[in-house]
Amino acid sequence: MEVCSSRAGHESLQHQLFHVTLGGKLYLSPTTETPQAVLDIATGDASWVLDYANQHPSASVIANDTSHAQLKTAAPNIVLDVGDANENWTYSCQFDFIHCRQHHRRIEERKLFEQGLMFLKPGGWMEMQELCNPVTSDDGTLDEYSPLAKWGRLITEASAQLNRPVDNPTHYASWMRKAGFTNIETVVYKFPTNPWPNDEKGKLKGLWNLYNVIQRLDEFTTVLFTKVLGWSRGDVDAFLVDVRKQLQDKNTHAYWPVWVLCLQSFLG
Ligand SMILES: C[S@@+](CC[C@H](N)C(=O)[O-])C[C@H]1O[C@@H](n2cnc3c(N)ncnc32)[C@H](O)[C@@H]1O
Repeated sequence: MEVCSSRAGHESLQHQLFHVTLGGKLYLSPTTETPQAVLDIATGDASWVLDYANQHPSASVIANDTSHAQLKTAAPNIVLDVGDANENWTYSCQFDFIHCRQHHRRIEERKLFEQGLMFLKPGGWMEMQELCNPVTSDDGTLDEYSPLAKWGRLITEASAQLNRPVDNPTHYASWMRKAGFTNIETVVYKFPTNPWPNDEKGKLKGLWNLYNVIQRLDEFTTVLFTKVLGWSRGDVDAFLVDVRKQLQDKNTHAYWPVWVLCLQSFLG
């Protein structure tokens, strides 16, 4: 798999964005202070797993990904696992904590929750952290006929046609209940489109998010719009000029919802 440095940079910035959004925490689940076995699914550049492993020296942390080409460095308590998380898991232990952040709809979530429950120790926790489309606003400043709102609707529509719907996090809690989890906590945060919020933390998050989105807007959009929706490359380019303009407009108080769900297996 080809990995470019801009993607690795994107993931590091995204990691900072999550960190600030979660109030400096790597996760919200009230796990044991001294976990022994932890699994991170779709590790990516390992920003999260490195911080977690360093903060929890008691834990042996399995970092799963289909490729570890993006990995910058490792830690003594990280075990690299190359594998497709959609396949049946063959881990030889059960986990105190299973974490999955931003798998970008590459993993079939219903199966992920079922396997997660099977591989958690009694009372262990699983946590999902995922950004959700479409982009939205609370105060009506994202006009439904505006380019950004249209972009959000079309991305959602095209991803559904590809069977990788970008609004899946809204269904997670019900799928988790179906998988057999009973104790589920949900928190929804916001990634602002630009530094429109009044507070300093919101401004910082908006600035980082804008940088990330502008860098990768073309990549997110082009395949879905041309291959799935049948747009021409020229039409996509022209449309994205208006989307970029609105992304930077501080009068549009838009944001992406970010879903964090913590789920606990039965205590036995
Ligand atoms: C956006 S990156 C992950 C970011 C990382 N979890 C974080 O939050 O910093 C998505 C990762 O999912 C991995 N991935 C995609 N499909 C996968 C699969 N079926 N099983 C495991 N990992 C997968 C990709 O290789 C990529 O590294």
